[in-house]
Amino acid sequence: MSERKTKKVLILPGDGIGPEIVGEAVKVLEVVNAKFNLGIELEEGLLGGCAIDATGVPFPDETLAQAQAADAILLGAVGGPKWDEIDRSIRPEKGLLGIRSQLGLFGNLRPAILYPQLADASSLKPEVVSGLDILIVRELTGGIYFGEPRGIDKTEDGERRGYNTYVYTESEIRRIGKLAFESARKRNGKVCSVDKANVLEATMLWREIMTDLGKDYPDVELSHMYVDNAAMQLVRAPKQFDVIVTGNMFGDILSDQASMLTGSIGMLPSASLDINAKGLYEPSHGSAPDIAGQGVANPLATILSAAMMLRYSLDMNEAAEAIEQAVGAVLDQGMRTADIATEGATQVGTREMGEAILLVLS
Ligand code: IPM
Ligand code: MG
Repeated sequence: MSERKTKKVLILPGDGIGPEIVGEAVKVLEVVNAKFNLGIELEEGLLGGCAIDATGVPFPDETLAQAQAADAILLGAVGGPKWDEIDRSIRPEKGLLGIRSQLGLFGNLRPAILYPQLADASSLKPEVVSGLDILIVRELTGGIYFGEPRGIDKTEDGERRGYNTYVYTESEIRRIGKLAFESARKRNGKVCSVDKANVLEATMLWREIMTDLGKDYPDVELSHMYVDNAAMQLVRAPKQFDVIVTGNMFGDILSDQASMLTGSIGMLPSASLDINAKGLYEPSHGSAPDIAGQGVANPLATILSAAMMLRYSLDMNEAAEAIEQAVGAVLDQGMRTADIATEGATQVGTREMGEAILLVLS
């Protein structure tokens, strides 16, 4: 096999169940690294609550330097009750927002795919969700999450007041729109742009730009939907969607909702990409402090995030496919962590699930 140039992957285990699930994903990466001669070098870093404990801030300069030097980043999850009372400027979530923004990771891809083996795990009727395959493209470095002015202050009457700003520039809208249209071309050729253009000016501009951009993609069918209707349609008839493109806050909400259609957020990976497709990959779920340290968390979303990383940032499709097929194979074997457990299945813990994947791969 030919030698490849070394690729650096930064591993950020984070908090809560993060270290457990990332631990399994790292073993999977090590196996495919050897098997396919990928030349990946792994390095570990700190982000979130663990970084606060070690350095006093959630996103230390050293982590930024490591992230900038890496070809891709794999993250577990950040946050937990331990840091809930902390000053809001250094909360663990600030670390996540910081790395997204400082690395320019504007394009968040959140697939919601129903594995046929898990059709019973969804709270919706099987006929409503079977075959579901949606991609939510969420803008990740703008909108109300980052808009200025923001803060909590006092009015002239001395009453406290909290405020944020929902703002998008034309170039930000075009950039995320392009990613959505390009993604749709590789899928089923449909983009639904979600906004609140009946009320919010920022999203009136959003709709105008998306419509204009759509002219460059005559092969892609563009539709628009208000966010309240989109929330309703997602539970009424989710299979009408292919790619959904939306702003930061609506995307945060709709992607959690879409994930649950598939039965478990524990199955869903995500990618956050910069303009050159360098990316940060993380499971769509959070740090689940309630089950941290118990060895019961589902590592599959993180393992699938590693597969996404191989495909989108490292151009290692063969290894990515091998991992995805291994996930399908262990589901076929009836292996289930608690979050996707159904009657008759073998319930396993985090490590056993990881080991089952390794067995298929080796
Ligand atoms: C997500 C999370 C984050 C977000 C939090 C942890 C800051 O909910 O990735 O969806 O709101 O973006
Ligand atoms: Mg969220």
